[in-house]
Amino acid sequence: MKATELLHRDHETVDKALEQIRTGNTGSKTRGEVVAEVVRDLSVHAAIEEQILYPLVREFMPDHEAEILEDLEEHHVMKVLVKELADMRTDDDRFIAKVIVLSEIVEHHVDEEESELFPAMEQRFDGDELEDLGESLEKAKSMAPTRPHPHGPDEPPANLANVAVGLLDDLAVLIAAITYVLNHLQPTGSVQPPPGPLPRDDRLDGRDPIEPIRWRSMPAIERSPCLAAWR
Ligand SMILES: [Fe+2]
Ligand SMILES: [Fe+2]
Repeated sequence: MKATELLHRDHETVDKALEQIRTGNTGSKTRGEVVAEVVRDLSVHAAIEEQILYPLVREFMPDHEAEILEDLEEHHVMKVLVKELADMRTDDDRFIAKVIVLSEIVEHHVDEEESELFPAMEQRFDGDELEDLGESLEKAKSMAPTRPHPHGPDEPPANLANVAVGLLDDLAVLIAAITYVLNHLQPTGSVQPPPGPLPRDDRLDGRDPIEPIRWRSMPAIERSPCLAAWR
């Protein structure tokens, strides 16, 4: 899948989830479950853009430097709001107001990426290059932080340490799952049926997070230092 298509799908997923939270039409899920999806999806999306996409654009499309700096600031504000939302009860007086402000910032940010950055990328890179970049972004997702870290580094090389943060986020999910099972273990050793879904992270389904990225083209980009960690 082309990088622009993958990122566009992410944008649509988050936009739909934020609308569900605002309207309360969350289907079979609770508002809290949809908030958890937004926290995970926005954190992962921001991380892969900061680790791969933005450094690549700064290196190969220097005319877009100012735009990327603005994008990084918008990511920072989004992560602050997402972190506050993750720590907030859904019946808090300020909950919907915070979701609306987050939605407005996300909409503005996504509009700029889709109307300016993505068309420029389609001009700069050919189809194979965008496919390769999409493959790298997909792989980076499996190691990206699943929670917002607004005060962590957002530019390479320091933000590559966020891979470790991502693994720690996964560890937190694993510990939560183990704690849940231990808390519900019967004396016989069987586990009571859960009242709701277990903490779960499906980003690694069917993928090997350390499988090396194979580039079909983009020799210049392949040599780029901003992609060294993903090869
Ligand atoms: Fe984006
Ligand atoms: Fe972005």
